[in-house]
Amino acid sequence: MPHDFMPGLAGVPAATSSISDVDGQRGVLEYRGIKVEELCSKSSYLETAYLLLFGHLPTEAEFRQWTSDVMHHRRVKFRIVDLLKCLPEQGHPMDALQAAVAALGMFYPGRNVKDVGNNYWSAVRLVAKLPTIVAAWARIRHGDDYIPPRDDLGFSENFLYMLTEAVPLPLWNKVFDDCLILHAEHTMNASTFAGLVTASTLADPYTVVASSIGALKGPLHGGANEEVIQMLKEIGSADRAKGYVEEKLRAKQKLMGFGHRVYKVKDPRATVLQALCRRLFMECGSSPFYEIALEIERVAGDTLSSKGIYPNVDFYSGIIYDKMGIDTDLFTPLFAMARVSGWLAHWLEQLRENKLFRPDQIYSGEHNRSYVPIAQR
Ligand code: CMC
Repeated sequence: MPHDFMPGLAGVPAATSSISDVDGQRGVLEYRGIKVEELCSKSSYLETAYLLLFGHLPTEAEFRQWTSDVMHHRRVKFRIVDLLKCLPEQGHPMDALQAAVAALGMFYPGRNVKDVGNNYWSAVRLVAKLPTIVAAWARIRHGDDYIPPRDDLGFSENFLYMLTEAVPLPLWNKVFDDCLILHAEHTMNASTFAGLVTASTLADPYTVVASSIGALKGPLHGGANEEVIQMLKEIGSADRAKGYVEEKLRAKQKLMGFGHRVYKVKDPRATVLQALCRRLFMECGSSPFYEIALEIERVAGDTLSSKGIYPNVDFYSGIIYDKMGIDTDLFTPLFAMARVSGWLAHWLEQLRENKLFRPDQIYSGEHNRSYVPIAQR
């Protein structure tokens, strides 16, 4: 065996990157060296996306240009809307998003990924159009009309407007924008890796992002936020949380929204999201889910903290989205529309020194077997 086999590639570096860093022992997450907590208090999602993609905080002129470019590319072709109308309304929004993003590439066929200008516009389009697609599908599947973006609204408020037909309260806008910042990037995770494997073949960025969306969908990755709300619904009230947690752990089942491959302390994003929950609920009334979540964290802490298992980003985010009236199955698409800036930042970084991903395997099958004719099997 030439190398040690690491299931799940745990701890195996797949790239050198200067985009983000996680200190799993201290619970620190930085984008381009800046802590996420500071970005949440001082930046906006669009500015953070710029930071991730281009490596520095934009000057005023750069930010004006970037904002204007994104704002002017939020509309989608009517054929994308038509495509969404053709999908089964009970289908999962992540599947609709993946299909629409893959189709987007057919409208912008500049396939030369060595063309810096073309790559810029691809990044602009993907950051700009994912929210439009998510909101359009959310309405179309209920038989409602797609609401086009409004040029006078910022990134997050426009998304909430396209989703609900109402301009959100400033606090909701701020909380939602912070959620997008917290989900924008997270080093070498499954969806980023999936995108980079696709990117290493020099596929176009729409295909890269469609690959990442596929990987994000699963319940061990981005799909966990949806599972958390199902769990909270199943528990029903805070006094039933203890029994539920004990039963799950006795049966050696996992608590959704807990645990992380890298963090061995509480995920810093979960801490910020919890603070956002408190802020939102102080103004808009509490959520029964929040009380249950606090109790789960308390009870689970007794058993799981000794194993380094704490709430992760998915534990509190869904509670915020639920309070905003957003459908549970849209939570992972919200994750995707934030994370697209991180995926694209990794794509651009990798293109500078691209090498085709072609790992090895350890063959555990047989050799030299004879072919048996079907009648003799
Ligand atoms: N609840 C209870 N026990 C857990 C949990 C959990 N959520 N997570 C890990 N463990 C236990 C697991 O049972 C195992 O115990 P033992 O050693 O006794 O067999 C041990 O911890 C190691 O688990 P693992 O699954 O091998 O560890 P991993 O590093 O592969 O796990 C994880 C990472 C995220 C897949 C896992 O913690 C998990 O499945 N969590 C629940 C799903 C979830 O919340 N996913 C979102 C992850 S964060 C956001 C994102 O990346 O998208």
